[in-house]
Amino acid sequence: MMKEKVCVPDIGEASDVEVIEILVKQGDQVSRDDSLVVLESDKASMEIPSPVEGVVESIEVKVGDKVDAGDTILVMLTEIKELPQEIEHSEEVASSIDIVSEARQHRPETVTQQEAVLQEQSRENLDRDPTAKSKVHAGPSVRKQAREYGVDLSRVTGSGNFGRVIKEDVVAYVKNRLSQQVSDAVGAGIPAMPEVDFSKFGEVEVVSRSRIQQASARNLHRSWLNIPLVTQFDQADITGLESFRKEQNIRLAEQGIKMTPLVFFIRAVVSGLQTYPQFNASLHPDGEHIIHKKYINIGIAVETEDGLVVPVIRDADKKGLIALAGESANLARQAREKSLNIDALQGATFTISSLGGIGGTSFTPLVNAPEVAILGVSRARIEAVYDGEDFKPRTILPLALSYDHRAIDGAEAARFTDHLARVLSDTRLMLL
Ligand code: COA
Repeated sequence: MMKEKVCVPDIGEASDVEVIEILVKQGDQVSRDDSLVVLESDKASMEIPSPVEGVVESIEVKVGDKVDAGDTILVMLTEIKELPQEIEHSEEVASSIDIVSEARQHRPETVTQQEAVLQEQSRENLDRDPTAKSKVHAGPSVRKQAREYGVDLSRVTGSGNFGRVIKEDVVAYVKNRLSQQVSDAVGAGIPAMPEVDFSKFGEVEVVSRSRIQQASARNLHRSWLNIPLVTQFDQADITGLESFRKEQNIRLAEQGIKMTPLVFFIRAVVSGLQTYPQFNASLHPDGEHIIHKKYINIGIAVETEDGLVVPVIRDADKKGLIALAGESANLARQAREKSLNIDALQGATFTISSLGGIGGTSFTPLVNAPEVAILGVSRARIEAVYDGEDFKPRTILPLALSYDHRAIDGAEAARFTDHLARVLSDTRLMLL
C-alpha cells in the first residue's frame, strides 16, 4: 500500500473555486471514478472523480474552502500497482473536466429531440425506482435552490459530470414546467384570474359568503366546466291554464291552498319525462352507459336569503296538482326557514328553475349535474298572437331547456320543449 495525494485537476481558467460538498469520509473504500468532492465556480459546479481505487486516508479540504488546480483534496491509500495508471488517469480526468465544462459553455439553449427522449426516459426510470430520489447527485447550493423553487430534484435531469444536477438544470426544469402550464391553459387548463385590489379605486367591504353560496358556487362551477351545455328555447300559450288556475284558486282558497304556475310546470315536466325518458337519466361515469331512472323526482330551485337551495319532490308522477301545490309550498317555506333535512335535498332526476314570479324574458339555466337537463321558466306576458284571422291577446310563457349535449341531442330537446308547450297550452293533456 502507498499513500497517494489526490489533487484538484486542471479546472480551466477558474481559480479560487469553492468546495461545496464532500462526498466521502475517512476510511471509505473508493473505486476509480467515484465522486470525491464537488467544486463550484461562478459558472458551473463540477464533481471531482477519484483517479484511483483505494481507501480514504485523510481529507485535506472542508466545505467552504477555496481551491485551485494542484491543491490537495485528500490522501488515499492505494495498491502500488495502481500508480502508473493513476498518473495517466489523472490527466484523463483533468482533460475530461475541461471537455465537460467547455461543452457546457457551448451547450445550445434548446434541447435536441434525442436529449428530450433521454430526459423523458430518465424521468420514467426515476418514477419507477423508489430509491432514485436518494441517488440524486447535486451540491448543497443546488439542493437549496431546488428547495426554494419547490423542485423535486429526482425529476431533474443532470447535465453535469456523471449526471450531476447543476443550477442550470434546475432553472431549465422550472422554465420547462412553466411553459407546459401555459400550453395547458390553452387546452383544458384554466388560467387563474388576476387578483385585483379594488380598494385602489374606492371604498370596499369584504363580506363572508354563506356555506350554501360557497357550496353552490363549487357545484355550478363544476357543472359549467364539465357539461357541454346547449339551451333550447320555446314558448307555451298558457292562456287557458291561467284561467283554469285562477278559477281553481278561488275554490281552493277556502282550504288554504294556492296553486301557482309552478305546479303546472311540474306536471308538464313529468309528462315530458314519461314520454322522453332520456331526460330522466344520468351519464354513467364510464362514459359508455346511460343510467335511466325509473322514478321521477323533481328538484325545485328555491331562492333563500342564504343562497340557492334545491329541495326535491319525490315521485312527482304519482302526485296530483293539489298535492304538488301543498308540497312545493312546504318545501319552499322550509328551505327559507332552513329547516329542510338532507334527504329533502337529494335524489332529483330533473330540476325546474322558475324565475317567472320575479321577471325576465329568458335565461340559460345550468344543468344540476349529474342530471342531464333543467327547465328554466321566465315571466309569462300577454302578447298579441295572430290566429289566422285576427290578433288575440294570449298569455305566453317563455321556456328554456338547458341540456347536457353528451346525453341529449338537439332534436330530442326540441321535441321535449314542444311537448311541454303543448301540455301547458292544454291542461287536459296533463291528465294523460
Ligand atoms: N309568469 C308569470 N307569473 C308568474 C310566473 C310566471 N312564469 N311564475 C309565478 N308567477 C307569479 C305567481 O302566479 C304569483 O303571482 P300571484 O301571487 O299573483 O298569484 C307570483 O308570481 C309569485 O309566485 P312565486 O312565489 O314565485 O311562486 P311559485 O310557486 O311560482 O315559485 C319558487 C316558487 C320557490 C320557485 C320561487 O319562489 C323561487 O324561489 N324562485 C326563484 C328560483 C331561482 O332562484 N332560480 C334560479 C336558479 S339559477
